Amino acid sequence: MFENILLERRGRVALITINRPDKLNALNIKTREELANALDELRADAEIRVVVLTGAGEKAFVAGADINEFAGRTAVQQRAVMKARNIFVTAEDFPKPLIAMINGFCLGGGCELALSCDIRIASEKARFGQPEINLGIIPGGGGTQRLTRLVGEGKAMQMILTGDMIDAQEALRLGLVNEVHPVTDLEAKTMDLANKIAEKSPVALAMAKTAVKAAARTTLRAGLDQEIDLFALCFSSEDKEEGVRAFLEKRKPEFKGR
Ligand code: COA
Repeated sequence: MFENILLERRGRVALITINRPDKLNALNIKTREELANALDELRADAEIRVVVLTGAGEKAFVAGADINEFAGRTAVQQRAVMKARNIFVTAEDFPKPLIAMINGFCLGGGCELALSCDIRIASEKARFGQPEINLGIIPGGGGTQRLTRLVGEGKAMQMILTGDMIDAQEALRLGLVNEVHPVTDLEAKTMDLANKIAEKSPVALAMAKTAVKAAARTTLRAGLDQEIDLFALCFSSEDKEEGVRAFLEKRKPEFKGR
């Protein structure tokens, strides 16, 4: 069905693998389209509660936009590419938790894709950077905004102005990634986390994601108001009744996503 990505379902967790290892999983137009289509499919799939996004091979998560496609492209064409299927906004607005599993180079659009996910788990070999400046351009997939919000202006500015890479430990120190694991443990640790989250109420997960995202989008007061509305909305779900009843009956809840 897809040429440049693999889509695998493992119970309640879906694994999307960007599969152009020879090109370090660089994001060409086709891959962007397929990624957005896969997310559309998983959005509508009630069986899937969490999505893990990774890159094929040991060398890279994603080494950025496909630079071959940049040559000769006009401003109008580039704007159309970014707007047509904005994978960064699609990922950010995706209603289920998205976990980036980062195994190697995580650069440019790859770093921006990881930043658009909700949680980033990296291997010790992961390296992060926004090297666009070396091509005479700047990040265009949210790097100047999401990276700055996550690690602060000073460090984001340094990464974007120099194009230099940082290693996994530095990324962990900055809060750019949530966890760092040895390469051999990366998949198991990431799937453990994904499966743990997949047991929660999908209704509450979607509300939680929307509420947390509001923190970067609005004022504190408006965010606090939105939190109360979303919190109250959870009280309309069967999952809330199940969660509360299960606690009182000292058993594990069985959330249905209703
Ligand atoms: N777009 C298109 N092709 C890319 C690519 C990208 N962003 N990144 C890597 N590739 C390709 C290389 O051209 C090479 O293809 P080839 O074998 O047909 O020549 C292949 O992937 C392997 O990359 P290579 O450069 O040989 O690996 P390396 O280990 O020597 O270097 C990097 C790895 C990541 C340092 C280097 O590939 C690089 O700098 N990539 C570009 C990163 C970038 O600027 N991203 C932001 C784009 S906006």
